[in-house]
Amino acid sequence: MNEADAKKRITRLVAEIEDHRHAYYTQDDPKLSDEAYDSLVHELESLEAQFPQLKDANSPTQRVGAAPLKAFVSVAHSRPMLSLQDISSDADLEAWTKRTAKLLPPDYRPKYHVDIKMDGLACALVYEDGQLVRGVTRGDGKIGEDVTSNVRTIANVPLKLRKKVAGTVEVRGEILLYKADFEKLNQARVKQGLPEFMNPRNTAAGTVRQLDPKLVAARPLRFHAYSVYSNQPTKTIHDEYELARELGFAVNRQNKVASSSKEIMEFVEHWAQKRQELPFNTDGLVIKIDDRRVFEDLGSVGKTPRGAVAFKYPPEEATTKLKDIIISIGRTGAATPIALLEPVRIAGTTVQHASLHNADEIERKDIRIGDTVVVHKAGDIIPQVVGVLANLRDGSEKQFDMAKELQNHPLKFERLPNEAVWRTKDRQDPHILARNIEHFCSKSALDIEGMGEKNADALVAAKLVSDQADLFKLKASDLLTLDRFADISANKLVDAVANSKEPSLPRFLYGLGIRHVGTQTAIDLSEHFGSLNKLQETSFDELAEIEGVGEVVAHSILEWFADENNQQLLEKFEKQGVKPKTTKKVHGPLEGKAFVVTGTLSSMQREEAAEKIRALGGTFQTSVGKGTHYLVTGEGTGQNKLDAAEKFGTKKLDEDEFVKLVS
Ligand code: IVH
Repeated sequence: MNEADAKKRITRLVAEIEDHRHAYYTQDDPKLSDEAYDSLVHELESLEAQFPQLKDANSPTQRVGAAPLKAFVSVAHSRPMLSLQDISSDADLEAWTKRTAKLLPPDYRPKYHVDIKMDGLACALVYEDGQLVRGVTRGDGKIGEDVTSNVRTIANVPLKLRKKVAGTVEVRGEILLYKADFEKLNQARVKQGLPEFMNPRNTAAGTVRQLDPKLVAARPLRFHAYSVYSNQPTKTIHDEYELARELGFAVNRQNKVASSSKEIMEFVEHWAQKRQELPFNTDGLVIKIDDRRVFEDLGSVGKTPRGAVAFKYPPEEATTKLKDIIISIGRTGAATPIALLEPVRIAGTTVQHASLHNADEIERKDIRIGDTVVVHKAGDIIPQVVGVLANLRDGSEKQFDMAKELQNHPLKFERLPNEAVWRTKDRQDPHILARNIEHFCSKSALDIEGMGEKNADALVAAKLVSDQADLFKLKASDLLTLDRFADISANKLVDAVANSKEPSLPRFLYGLGIRHVGTQTAIDLSEHFGSLNKLQETSFDELAEIEGVGEVVAHSILEWFADENNQQLLEKFEKQGVKPKTTKKVHGPLEGKAFVVTGTLSSMQREEAAEKIRALGGTFQTSVGKGTHYLVTGEGTGQNKLDAAEKFGTKKLDEDEFVKLVS
């Protein structure tokens, strides 16, 4: 970037950042996530470093701290509310355990208490002779704001302790807004024509600092405890959590005691994958030396205790430039617009592509080529463009017209009246064909090892296959004409194909890629019809009778079998000797019972749970409906599923009850 361009960009960034600071600090109503905000500040910092002459004394990079609100009475904390030193890697953790070990007796083997770091706001609750007398925000750690009348409205804050403890008890913890409650709140706001809130934490913080307790009471805040100070001696942090529970407080169920950094890292990695499933947001874990005496004796440096650290997960949101929009065509022929991004690090990986969903979404968010966009990436989920910073536009941005782009595409696309997606019916297109072949060979379908994306592309490009049935004609000598194959890999693939000539009917049906026919529907169809021939001859009425097959699914199945190309495909399979095996209906104690599993189960993966249910004759569904008998609730069960269960009278089972039922 040249100096003139940098100057323009800096001016825009400064104005944008100032706006967000105002919204955040003064109005308690940010329009941007902290992570995206930080990303903008980083961009400004790096431009200022590159062009020091352009740095202004009033730049937001030169500011520290925020203007406090004057509305509440200030209260001194009984003991400082400390913060935690952040760490973010295995090496950091190792360095911390070594550093603390040096301060402890040489033969002392510390245990560590690990808990989820909740993304809310810290609060201290003071009880005198068992009665809640004060609630104080963290403030600057020494002095906070008295928000007693507000915390009294929080439903799970005990106004009276459940267990008698003489004298003063102080319980510290996090005030939270659960993700599901936050979403409901926003849905209600949209209905009332009010602007949506940015995120649960800021909404919780803004709520606690509301001057009208009635308004606070109307927002479903919660309090989760993590510290107790009282006359009641507790040896370990673990005991302290138990005490908090006995006193009547909610504490995270996820906390555990670890004996080594290896165990801590296992916990870190587990929650890095699963943290989306928690009911509240988290950006890391809190690790403390479990022995309270040792913890206290280690003391603190500045504002952070030596005996604890926060393991922070990498941010899941950043801002970057959208360089272009391309169209990707999937297995079903759906055209998806994809954002090409200026590479940016998010959640530990470099992101260059993000999904834009569909044309309506681009229009609704007014996303233009050249825009600065906010990109979100969580876990294994495909990165998404969540918004645009329109104020940062310089006039060079271009609008994207999906319909027009598709007109210039060699394939023909159509958009059905009620659908957001443009789709092509062209099955012969090499890219679509390769995706269908890949799907046919995938784990839940015929499970043919060695037929991933690249091999499927190569086989189609070399015209060795023109449909799924051609796979069964392949010879090792054909494959050896391609660079990708050597003797061993070619023979392996040919063998793998040959070994799947008698797939189970459900796998085969699923592999055909009929729209709306997932693994469970394929099982239902297979059980009902018993053979491919019977299914081919079915009628709409018969299909619609099957539990789990709705109108849309029925139409889709009929349409697929009515298609001449598909009929030819089935004939080709037959000629190649491919014979789907009928699976017998499983009779068992769960026959006629439909299950939905939600959240995380600690003892098994969801697919394993599905297999167990099916092995006992039950069916496994993905959403709760009127035919669902049981909702198995794992860790982090979503409110929507619970609401649906309530509505349809579905029985809820926790993990223990479920495990008992299937074993
Ligand atoms: S223990 C010495 N446990 O994280 C501080 N804190 O930087 C000990 N937080 O603002 C705090 N979840 O409010 C602890 N499970 C948890 C927590 C947690 C969130 C917050 C806390 C504080 C910050 C610490």
